[in-house]
Amino acid sequence: MALKNSLLELEKGIATLFINRPEKLNALNKETIQELHDTLKLIDENPEIQVIVITGSGEKAFVAGADIAEFAHFSETEGAQLATKGQQILFDFIESMKTPVIAAINGFALGGGLELAMACHFRIASDNAKMGLPETSLGVIPGYGGTQRLPQLIGKGRAMEMIMTAGMITADDAFRAGLVNHVVPQSDLLNFCNGIAQRIMRNSPVAISKAIEAVNANFVSGVNGFDVEINAFGACFATEDFKEGTTAFLEKRKPEFEGK
Ligand code: COA
Repeated sequence: MALKNSLLELEKGIATLFINRPEKLNALNKETIQELHDTLKLIDENPEIQVIVITGSGEKAFVAGADIAEFAHFSETEGAQLATKGQQILFDFIESMKTPVIAAINGFALGGGLELAMACHFRIASDNAKMGLPETSLGVIPGYGGTQRLPQLIGKGRAMEMIMTAGMITADDAFRAGLVNHVVPQSDLLNFCNGIAQRIMRNSPVAISKAIEAVNANFVSGVNGFDVEINAFGACFATEDFKEGTTAFLEKRKPEFEGK
């Protein structure tokens, strides 16, 4: 697949996907959103890939938001369609992927950029990163899940303040708020993510995908997450990975899990 707005590196089970429009600070236009969807779908179906890292090209930005030039003249209907399609094919899509997705926030993560990072399973930031949801300064609100995922991650009061002030927070502030799990020097960001990916890859891909499903169920209204957990837990007992994991423990050796 020819990639126009992104770059993909595959190495030993890890796919690193760079959003690559540095001249526009990697802003997400519709074409980029579709391309990211198509690529992520293929990677998720590839049994060789066990962890995905999403980051931005260049040293300045992860993603500086949805492409303002593209939607500036949209009507009410077009605005709603933009949010609906984007949420479906990228943001909700990433959240429910069976492969773990880490956001490596290497610079500005604003608006749709922070929403993209929040749709990933967890986030690591470089020390120069700046995060915010500046939409209200443009006369609009976050439309790619920001009003839902930010309060889930940092609590309602802090999320309200960030959205109402449209301000940016530093990587250290984001760490203190629980928005990112670690802050590392920019030059070390991808190495650090790879280190976490290596630790993830020691574990059962099937169990990890079931854990993603169960954790996500906590945030779906009308769904009982405990029931989802029970079903997913039970399903693990029928997998080769469960047999291998428990046998390896009892035989005092390292398990060799199957692909996802
Ligand atoms: N959409 C479209 N273009 C964007 C963009 C966005 N979200 N963010 C940055 N760009 C473009 C700029 O228009 C500029 O393009 P140009 O060189 O053709 O004029 C280029 O990227 C570089 O950005 P610039 O503003 O010159 O960089 P800066 O270092 O002065 O400022 C930011 C960096 C991130 C503070 C600033 O670009 C910004 O505020 N961006 C918008 C953030 C935002 O509101 N995002 C939410 C959108 S819903």
